[in-house]
Amino acid sequence: MVMDPHEHAKGLAAKKALEFIQDGMVVGLGYGSTAKLFINLLGERVKQGLKIRGIAASIYSEEHAKSLGIPIIDFNQATEIDVDVDGADEIAPGLALIKGGGGALLREKIVASAAKKFVVVADSSKIVAKLGKFPLPVEVIPMAAPLVAKKFTDMGIRPQVRKVISGAEFITDEGNLILDCDCGLISDPAALAAQIRAIVGVVEHGLFLNMAEVAIVASEREISILYK
Ligand code: 5RP
Repeated sequence: MVMDPHEHAKGLAAKKALEFIQDGMVVGLGYGSTAKLFINLLGERVKQGLKIRGIAASIYSEEHAKSLGIPIIDFNQATEIDVDVDGADEIAPGLALIKGGGGALLREKIVASAAKKFVVVADSSKIVAKLGKFPLPVEVIPMAAPLVAKKFTDMGIRPQVRKVISGAEFITDEGNLILDCDCGLISDPAALAAQIRAIVGVVEHGLFLNMAEVAIVASEREISILYK
């Protein structure tokens, strides 16, 4: 069977990220297909005797990690994560990211914010010159969603409530909705982040600025390590 080149590249990036993990660490476990590959490889290392504890960025990642024998803790047990490994939907210069394609941006940002080192793992299709081709996910309180959507429209942003295949609204791990926002190419991500943050009813947005320290970006043949 021929493997999808993106999947192969994601696997290379995930494997490289293992080099950042050492015995005794608290490891942030991200969400998405690349983060899942990392969790799979970490599970193998744990079976071989690696002693780490994980803090997961989604209920799915937590369940998956547990099923592989990775010990899972929460912020009651540790308020600092040594290394967080997570994917991204877009990676721009300065390691500015859009995340939340899987709808877990809130927990992902909480986990990344507690990490001493946030390592992004991705295939090279995620590299962009400017953020914004990928619609920006914004997590909102359900009852406020129409108000927040109107504010976005007034700002010239086109929001869409995320739906699942059945047509029902996508509900996040925290019971909120996601607005996928077509912002066009984002020339000033920090200014946009501040504007979005100021809207009442917004819980969190998928702009991860000044958070990632390293990005491991792989193509089919080559792995690049990008620093902030
Ligand atoms: C989930 C995320 C993911 O990290 C992002 O969508 C990238 O996913 P993948 O590794 O499947 O391409 O932010 O909320």
